[in-house]
Amino acid sequence: MGSSFLKHPLVVKLLDKTESGLREFLNPNVKTVLEIGGYIIDGGGKRLRPLLTLLISKGGGGDTDKTLPLAVGIEYIHTASLLHDDVVDEAETRRGKLAAHKVFGNAVSVLTGDYMYATALYLYSLHGNAEMIRVVSEAVRMMAEGQVLELQKVGELIDEKTYFEIIDGKTSALFAAATAVGAMSSPNLKGLRDEFWRFGLHLGRAFQLIDDALDYDGDAKEVGKPVGQDLREGKTTYPLLAVLEHLDPKEVRETLLDTSNGKVEKLVNLVRELGGVEKTRERARTELSLAREILKRSPLNGEVGEILNELIDFVVQRTY
Ligand code: IPE
Ligand code: IPE
Ligand code: MG
Ligand code: MG
Ligand code: MG
Repeated sequence: MGSSFLKHPLVVKLLDKTESGLREFLNPNVKTVLEIGGYIIDGGGKRLRPLLTLLISKGGGGDTDKTLPLAVGIEYIHTASLLHDDVVDEAETRRGKLAAHKVFGNAVSVLTGDYMYATALYLYSLHGNAEMIRVVSEAVRMMAEGQVLELQKVGELIDEKTYFEIIDGKTSALFAAATAVGAMSSPNLKGLRDEFWRFGLHLGRAFQLIDDALDYDGDAKEVGKPVGQDLREGKTTYPLLAVLEHLDPKEVRETLLDTSNGKVEKLVNLVRELGGVEKTRERARTELSLAREILKRSPLNGEVGEILNELIDFVVQRTY
C-alpha cells in the first residue's frame, strides 16, 4: 500500500477488527441486500474513517472492542454514501470494479444504501448514546445537503466559498463525526468532542481536496475510478478554481455545460499545466497543518499521536 503507518501493528490489528465487524454487523434477511452490501464492502476501501475512530478512542483510553460497532457504523454510512453517490454521479467504476448500480441496478443499490444508513443508526442506539446519535445524524444531514448543493451547481462555475460549502458537507462532516465519536468513546477525551470534530473537519477537507486533485492527475487504475470525471460531470473543483485567473471564463463555462466533446480532456490538461493540481495539494497541506495543531494541543502524544501524524501525511501523499 506504500505507506508505513498502514503496517504499524496497532493499525493492522484495528483494520482487521474493522473488516470482521463490517461483515458481522450487516445481517439482512433479504439476499439481494447482502449481495450488494458484500459486493461493495469486498471491493476494499481504505477504511480510514473507522480507523480514525478506533485510534482516537484507543489513544484516549477507550476499549476498542466497545468502540468497534460505532466505527463500523461510520464505515456503513460512508459505504451507503458511495452507493448513492455512484447513482447520482452515474459513475461506471468504484474500488476498481463496476459500480454496484451497474451490476445490480439503481433501485436496489439505493435501497441497500438506505439499509446501511439505518444499520449504522441501529448500532449507535445499541452501543452508543444520544449525543453520539446526534453527532452522526448531523453528519448525515450535512452530507445529503452537500451532495444536493453540488448537484444544483452542476454546469456552473462556482466560487471557492461554495466549493468549501459543498465539500464540508459531502466529505468533511463524516470525517468530523468519525473523529468526534472516537473522542466521545474514550474516558480521557470526552470533553474534547468539539476539538476532535474540528480535527476531522480539516482532515476531511484535505481528503476531498486530494480526491479532487487525483481526479485531475491520478492513475485511474490505482485510484479505482476514472480520471477527468468531475469535469465530465460539469463540476467545478479546486484544481480548476486554483488556476481560473489564467483561463477564459467563457470557455470554461462552455466546457462545464457541454462535456460531450473533446473539450474536457483539453481543459484537464490545461489545468494540470497551469499547476492547478499542485496548488490543490498546497491547499490540502494548509488544512492538514491545522489538523496537526489540534492534535498537538490534545493529550494524544504517545504511539497513537505518532500514528495519527503519519495518517495525516498519508492523506496528502496518497495516490489512491
Ligand atoms: C471516496 O472516499 C469518497 C470521497 C469522500 C472522496 P474514499 O477515498 O475514502 O473511498 P474508499 O472507502 O477508500 O473506497
Ligand atoms: C464524494 O464525492 C462524496 C461522497 C460522500 C461519496 P465524489 O463524488 O468526488 O466521490 P468519488 O470521487 O465518486 O469517490
Ligand atoms: Mg462520485
Ligand atoms: Mg459525487
Ligand atoms: Mg471524486
